[in-house]
Parts: sequence; C-alpha cells; structure tokens
Amino acid sequence: MNIFEKYESNVRSYCRSFPDIFHRAKGSIVYAESGREYIDFFAGAGALNYGHNHDYIKQKVISYLDADGIAHGLDMYTSAKEKFLAKFHEVILSTKHLDYRIQFCGPTGTNAVEAALKLARKVKKRPGIFSFMGAYHGMTLGSLSITANTAIRAGAIGTLNSVTFMPYPYGFMESFDTIKYIESVLNDVSSGIEKPAAIIFETVQAEGGVIVAPIEWVQRLRKLCDEHDILLICDDIQVGCGRTGSFFSFERASIVPDIVILSKSISGYGFPMSLLLT
Ligand SMILES: Cc1ncc(COP(=O)(O)O)c(C=O)c1O
Repeated sequence: MNIFEKYESNVRSYCRSFPDIFHRAKGSIVYAESGREYIDFFAGAGALNYGHNHDYIKQKVISYLDADGIAHGLDMYTSAKEKFLAKFHEVILSTKHLDYRIQFCGPTGTNAVEAALKLARKVKKRPGIFSFMGAYHGMTLGSLSITANTAIRAGAIGTLNSVTFMPYPYGFMESFDTIKYIESVLNDVSSGIEKPAAIIFETVQAEGGVIVAPIEWVQRLRKLCDEHDILLICDDIQVGCGRTGSFFSFERASIVPDIVILSKSISGYGFPMSLLLT
C-alpha cells in the first residue's frame, strides 16, 4: 500500500486514474518518479494555459518573492493589486471596449461562482437560477447546485436548491430549439418554473465533454436574458484566458455577459486566483 492510500482520505479523484508520482513539470511535459514522461494534455483543467513553469512568469514570481512582496494582504490595497488592475484594464478590458468592474473573490473558481450567484440573487431579488444539462461549475454547495453530474451531486444530500436545468444544445438536443423551450417555460404562467435571477452557462462545456455551443445559440441566449430581465453569467473559468483563441470565450459570439467568472489561468502560473467581472 502506498503512502497516499495509507494516509490520504478516500476523497481522491484524478490521481486514481494516473497511478504515478509526479515530481517535475516543464512546458507541456510532466515527469514521474517512475522515469516516465507524460504529455500533459490535461494542463490543470485549464489552469496551465501557458504551460508548466513558464520561464518568464517564473522569473517574475521569484523576483517578487525575493523583494519580500506582499504574499497575503486580505483585500488591502497593495501595489501588486494596483498594477494588476491597471494592466488588466489596459490590455484586456479597454481593448475590447468592456467596462466591467473587477471583484477579487476567494481564490478558487468555485468561490467566484458562489459570489456570482449571491450577487445575481441580491440584485434581482429572486432565488432561482437556470443552469444547463452537462454543466460543471464547482464543488461547493452553491456551485454544485448548478452542476449537473448526478454522481458528484450525490455528495450534498438534500442541500442543492433553487436551480432548474435547461437542455444544452448537443446530442439529440441539437435538433431541438432549446432557446425556444426556455422561452416557453418563462412565458407560460403554468410552467411551474419561476423566473430566475440569472442564467449561468459555459460557451464550451468543458468537464461536460468539450461541447461547443453554436454562436447563434449564445446570441439568442443573450437576447432572451435581455427580454426577460434575467442576468447572463458566463462561467469562463476553464475556457477563458485564451483557451479558445480569444481572451474571453464569448467573444466569438460578440456578446457581453452581465457577469463573467474567471479563474484557473488568470494567475498565469497555476496559483489560485479568481475574478468576477460585473
Ligand atoms: C467551468 C468551471 N467552473 C468552475 C470550476 C471550479 O473551479 P475550482 O475547481 O477552482 O473551484 C471549474 C473547475 O474545473 C470549471 O471547469
């Protein structure tokens, strides 16, 4: 029995499929103690868009630590945050004519999803959220409530509330007008489903199987939210930060979500960091 099986809890997942001990990584290659080299197509599930230990970023990290830069500062004003805000605005937001405010949440993706749900409900004063079949948004109670996978939902017995799953356009649903379906649910006073505060979606369902939503579908979803006074939240945690080509994955549909959630590769180096753009 190895040390992981002996001392680590049974709450383990990916490591069960990769029975090797990794000790070094560079670019797209991960090295294991067994002597094997692996091409890392997984890339931290989108957290390592720029590869493992990218030299330029690594040098910046080392010099920041060397200069005793602030490593923990709650949400105090720090010169690092000041530089980040200015640069993110200059390089990303203003070049795309986006005037989002930037909220720094807890460091994981799921923290930012929770913040988005709380904000949407608070603004619209409605509890409901529409999510999509096949969606993955995280493992804490709010984000798990909008995650579709039955096996992982089973971990939160009876606590996943106020969410309705709508069909995502794939499989046999491709020949079914899913936007029209959502529209009829919203318009029919006898649908039994109340108008939600927000609809949360991924432009590409990543964990759900790399399912790309058609551009027209994304545009119609934006229009539907506008017409029904519903906030549109784009979870760009896994497919944002350049993963689909453009910085934001929704750019290909020329839409602007009300709330955008970023995490994973936003830190550049695999460090935990999350942002909410509102
Ligand atoms: C689309 C999406 N949303 C949310 C999350 C949750 O992020 P985290 O694991 O950092 O909590 C993930 C993680 O894979 C994700 O892919």
